[in-house]
Amino acid sequence: MKLQKIRKLKLVTLLDNMVYISGPLGHWGYSTFLIYVDANNMTKRVLMDTGSDVEAFIRNTKLLKIGFYNLDAVVLSHGHLDHTTATINVVEAHPGIKIYAHPSVFSKRISIDEKGERHTFSPPKGWGLKAWEDAGAKIVFTKEPTEVASGIWVTGEVPRKSFETIAEMGRWRRVIEEDGIEKEDLIPDDQSIFFDLEGFGIVVLTGCAHSGVLNTLAYVEELTGEKPVAVIGGTHLSGRKPEYLTKTIEGLKHYNLKYLSPCHCTGFHAISKLAEAFPKAFQLNHSGKITDFTEFIKK
Ligand SMILES: [Fe+2]
Ligand SMILES: [Fe+2]
Repeated sequence: MKLQKIRKLKLVTLLDNMVYISGPLGHWGYSTFLIYVDANNMTKRVLMDTGSDVEAFIRNTKLLKIGFYNLDAVVLSHGHLDHTTATINVVEAHPGIKIYAHPSVFSKRISIDEKGERHTFSPPKGWGLKAWEDAGAKIVFTKEPTEVASGIWVTGEVPRKSFETIAEMGRWRRVIEEDGIEKEDLIPDDQSIFFDLEGFGIVVLTGCAHSGVLNTLAYVEELTGEKPVAVIGGTHLSGRKPEYLTKTIEGLKHYNLKYLSPCHCTGFHAISKLAEAFPKAFQLNHSGKITDFTEFIKK
């Protein structure tokens, strides 16, 4: 697949667990915002995920002067509440907006503890297919790779071929209810954004990378025929065994990464290991981080 290259990119981390500058709030969850110039020199805006806390999300969008006018698309990386809570607020501010999400985003999820007790994490009021459609959103299901705005793609389901696994929750089990059947939740809805930035290369934006960051990069490489040069977002390396982390770092070395900015569910320990392993590419990510990629683009 040949991607239409984008020409300029500014990336704003609207919400992350951590904050390193005064002003924005940190809150467990993730939301990132792309402002870019497409191949036809049109400025476009795409939002990926909406975090876990409406107050923090709204505060940060105001502070960072992110207006949701002229928003071209919303992408949900998966259905977890720490990535989708303020979606209704975005839809209300932008009726008619297209939301790109895998159908399993809307499936019921339950966690079962070691005693067999069931815990349902209820979505907040105004969450889900009906609520978002009622507020004016158009939901586009993405099981397959899909272009969400000119030059910007989502992977859809990511094939799982590496050693990577869904992170365990101690002795708890995650289940998902689909077509009236409960089964182990392999988080099939996990998807990532990818695009080709002119003069730079293929960029991958993950939400939690529940499919595995290496599986995600391998799939983008398979789709585009090129090795991604940048990975930004959650990688779900938090709490992984040392060997798992070492194998992931080895796998990442297959790529000639120019920009590596892990955050959210990567966890402090893995973030510091990645910073050590990729000192030139590493960029600390946090609420309110703004990166203008102009400085990375070869003239
Ligand atoms: Fe997450
Ligand atoms: Fe997640």
